[in-house]
Amino acid sequence: MRTTTLGSKGPEVGVIGLGCMGMTHAYDPTGRDEATSISVIHRALELGVTLIDTADVYGPFTNEDLVGKALRGRREQAVLATKVGLLVGGAPDANPPGLIRNGRPEYVREAIDASLRRLGTDHVDLYQLHRVDPEVPIEETWGALAEAVAAGKALRIGLSEVSVEEIKRAQAVHPVASVQSELSLWTRDPLAEVLPYCEEQGIAFLPFSPLGRGFLAGRFASGADLPEGDWRARLPRFQDEALRANQAIVDAVKAIAARREVTPAQVALAWVVAQGEYVVPIPGTKTPKYLEDNAGAADLTLTPEDLAELDALPAPVGSRY
Ligand SMILES: NC(=O)c1ccc[n+]([C@@H]2O[C@H](COP(=O)([O-])OP(=O)(O)OC[C@H]3O[C@@H](n4cnc5c(N)ncnc54)[C@H](OP(=O)(O)O)[C@@H]3O)[C@@H](O)[C@H]2O)c1
Repeated sequence: MRTTTLGSKGPEVGVIGLGCMGMTHAYDPTGRDEATSISVIHRALELGVTLIDTADVYGPFTNEDLVGKALRGRREQAVLATKVGLLVGGAPDANPPGLIRNGRPEYVREAIDASLRRLGTDHVDLYQLHRVDPEVPIEETWGALAEAVAAGKALRIGLSEVSVEEIKRAQAVHPVASVQSELSLWTRDPLAEVLPYCEEQGIAFLPFSPLGRGFLAGRFASGADLPEGDWRARLPRFQDEALRANQAIVDAVKAIAARREVTPAQVALAWVVAQGEYVVPIPGTKTPKYLEDNAGAADLTLTPEDLAELDALPAPVGSRY
């Protein structure tokens, strides 16, 4: 697998990472299988998909347990990233829906120890603040994450879904190694300010939901295509009308995929990778076939013509959350 570094100062990682959320959380409750998920993580490491992303809130907690199990005896092969700062229990209209934020320093201090226990390791390579808590100054939360670095429990710390202003406030306390935010062909907000700032500062940018939660791979044409009990059914873009209106985006991705003899998912991921030197998307899958497909995106270089067509796609109908 083609590699980059996790920001200008971080370790080498494959240009495609792996998001583990869907293995125990949010999507398709009927399609989960622990043994298959563990085999996906093992195969990822074999393929050079080394950045493995989880969070304490996924499950909650079961995702870190699963990742810990999968990495037993292979811990050093992975660049392991987890997150803190969200808890199950928020209102349906919260961002993200159904989750509440907790950035209190005393909470962060306890949470890292619990994460390390579940992950079966004495340190993570990257500890990320999942969301900034509006009730707690970011300097205080970030200071607690920095304590985890001082204690050797995290090698570096990162942010998620933040503004440039918030990155700068955190940087004044401790270096920001990474920013994880949604970026894909139907969510381009970070391209305006956050990603250029990260590139300039040598901060890794980790696009989450780079496949538009599966939509850009051509999986969902109507709400009926969503598995029973799937959390995506709550999202505005996964309502019938929005899915119908946004098919034009998928059709364009499919046309380029056909021309290049690759899959739509590979086109969507290659576009994301092309957005910067330190951009490492973390597509989520619990399926061996999709993992291989996504890893293959590292070998696809889009032409200027492909990129121009993708850049010119219409904005999507429906908000993200
Ligand atoms: N920081 C945050 O706030 C935040 C928020 C959301 C997600 N994340 C992280 O980002 C990761 C990825 O995001 P995501 O899972 O939301 O969305 P995603 O990667 O855009 O899409 C995942 C969906 O696409 C499907 N899929 C994956 N590869 C495919 C392929 N090659 N062809 C067809 N379908 C494919 C998956 O199916 P299967 O599951 O059936 O394999 C799953 O339904 C998560 O796992 C998590 O680690 C972070």
